[in-house]
Amino acid sequence: MGATVVVGTQWGDEGKGKIIDILASRADLICRYQGGNNAGHTVVVGGEEHTFHLIPSGILHEGKTCVIGNGVVIDPEALVQEIEGVESHGTVTSGRLFVSDRSHVIMSYHKVLDQVIDEQRGKGKIGTTGRGIGTAYMDKTARIGIRMCDFLDEETFREKVQIALEEKNDLLEKLYSYDMERPSAQEVFEKYRDYADRLREFTTDTSVLINDALAGGKQVLFEGAQGTMLDVDFGTYPYVTSSNPVAGGAATGTGVGPTRIDRVVGVVKAYTTRVGEGPFPTELSGELADRLRNAGPIGEYGRTTGRPRRCGWFDAVVVRHAARVNGLDYLALTRLDILDVLDSIKVCVGYECGGKKVTGFPPLLRMLVGCTPVYEEVEGWKEPTVGARSYGDLPEGARKYVERLSELVGVPVGLISVGPGREETIELKDMMRP
Ligand code: IMP
Repeated sequence: MGATVVVGTQWGDEGKGKIIDILASRADLICRYQGGNNAGHTVVVGGEEHTFHLIPSGILHEGKTCVIGNGVVIDPEALVQEIEGVESHGTVTSGRLFVSDRSHVIMSYHKVLDQVIDEQRGKGKIGTTGRGIGTAYMDKTARIGIRMCDFLDEETFREKVQIALEEKNDLLEKLYSYDMERPSAQEVFEKYRDYADRLREFTTDTSVLINDALAGGKQVLFEGAQGTMLDVDFGTYPYVTSSNPVAGGAATGTGVGPTRIDRVVGVVKAYTTRVGEGPFPTELSGELADRLRNAGPIGEYGRTTGRPRRCGWFDAVVVRHAARVNGLDYLALTRLDILDVLDSIKVCVGYECGGKKVTGFPPLLRMLVGCTPVYEEVEGWKEPTVGARSYGDLPEGARKYVERLSELVGVPVGLISVGPGREETIELKDMMRP
């Protein structure tokens, strides 16, 4: 038996897609546990790019079971489109993809509300993906959400839509002065009925499925979306997403007890990026940021919204925080090759806040804004790392950089990625084993 959780240690977009794709080849079942189609994983197989928003990318591996857990919020329209997309490449989803009957559904009004609410925040806007993620989670915790099991039951769905729509239409018109045509409950019901019919065959009690798999000695991989600093509890609140990307979310988001989880892998970029608003202590601007953004075969642009990502130096305060709140066993270091061209590289080892040294990540934004990163500067190796297939193939400077990051974070490195392709990887350890 073995259960491994893969989490992002920064603000998402660490390259989890590729790491999960590699580990998925050794797993029997791959499971998403939070977030929704705000996420975007890109996997390059044989030079062909595949982007996933909801379905675990493990679906590309023949014979693997893929699960979308109860902690995920599902836009039925997006999921149906993704299923069709995957199937058009000849991949079978029937009998391999399962969706939790307890996961919550994103409705059209969640998307409108998400965009309207964020716009009205003005200067304090979060810069959400506008996919209705936060507003669907709002309804979930307000206990007025629609779960997949409700969605598939015509009578329950009709009743819930009626109630929700009246409330949302009032909110949009009266509170947010949103100019719109009021859709009727019947219209919404009709629009969604086809999606419900299409998704019925995939929907089940996935907690039973995963626990049975573990009891039967199968390898299970839990795939986190976004990253620790976007976690609603441990991230840069309120500039976060509305779920728990941290490893603990894998238990609540799938119905698997913490006693069944064996290890946690933290995916970490060799520098830092962030999309959307919110604090980013080591952020760079100007030419250096542009170089990081545009280096390598895949630039730093959001997979879901296409927005340019903000870029900055590696921040050990952030990743140490992630190591603690996730209980990381290994680091999977990605995009090392992007640094190949730099003359010198900075690493943030701590912050100075009001004349004091701070080593933990401050929760209070007002304090964080007043913090200055303390940097160590290392010489660039100025040699390509793309072709490296073993640790010894890496230039000495690159090895020193990797070792310093690991030392600062206090977690061993299990894998180094030097390009987007599956083969552009140096594995130091089988991270699915103790
Ligand atoms: P939401 O998840 O759409 O509510 O957006 C909240 C914040 O999380 C925004 O700053 C988004 O840019 C960010 N975010 C959401 N999903 C991702 C992701 O997959 N990668 C990086 N940032 C994300």
